[in-house]
Amino acid sequence: MSNYLETLEKRRSIYALGKNVNVEASQIEGTIKEAVRLSPSAFNSQTSRVVILTGESQTQLWDLVAEDLKIEMKRQGVPDEAFEGTKQKLEGFKAAFGTALFFEDTAIVKNLQEQFALYADKFPDWSEQSTGIAAINAWTALAELEIGANLQHYNPVINDSVAKVWAIPENWELKSQLVFGSIEAPASEKEFTSDDERFKVFH
Ligand SMILES: Cc1cc2nc3c(=O)[nH]c(=O)nc-3n(C[C@H](O)[C@H](O)[C@H](O)COP(=O)(O)O)c2cc1C
Repeated sequence: MSNYLETLEKRRSIYALGKNVNVEASQIEGTIKEAVRLSPSAFNSQTSRVVILTGESQTQLWDLVAEDLKIEMKRQGVPDEAFEGTKQKLEGFKAAFGTALFFEDTAIVKNLQEQFALYADKFPDWSEQSTGIAAINAWTALAELEIGANLQHYNPVINDSVAKVWAIPENWELKSQLVFGSIEAPASEKEFTSDDERFKVFH
């Protein structure tokens, strides 16, 4: 197997994450930035934006998610006890070293739609895809450094609070949260759909 495929295999959803990382925070941050920078985007529009939170900010994020989710679950009439399970899960994310928040710059998407009317309906999809590509590249690059990660989606519930605390520009829309840290327990077994179902090859 090529080194690249080996790294792809190494990237898993790791939920037991901690702060015992063996690399400098600056190297983790640099790796995320480089992975995002090197990722492709439609028309090279580079619509993805990333906010990296570690230290106090990491704690603040996951406390904020817990607060906002509790309010949202109450609003939806979910019994208080149900929040306990969610809270445990969120404590797990808080224990991680950091979180990279992935956004899309909607102002660029809007601009592209105006500039290229023919593709106007495609740009939002392409921007989502580009942000997904950026996130997976960051996730995989971290795996190569032996940093575990998992991908969360507490948007849009947390969007307003996140924007307020970290002064996020209005045109940045939150899309995902990549939680990362030391690998405290391996990923669970993964099942693969058979190749027959997934692929068709013609010669
Ligand atoms: C687009 C996308 C959205 C996902 N959303 C979540 C999520 O919200 N929460 C979560 O725990 N995992 C999420 N995952 C992780 C998947 O559940 C996981 O990638 C899948 O089960 C395969 O496991 P692996 O990542 O270990 O290969 C997401 C993955 C992708 C690609």
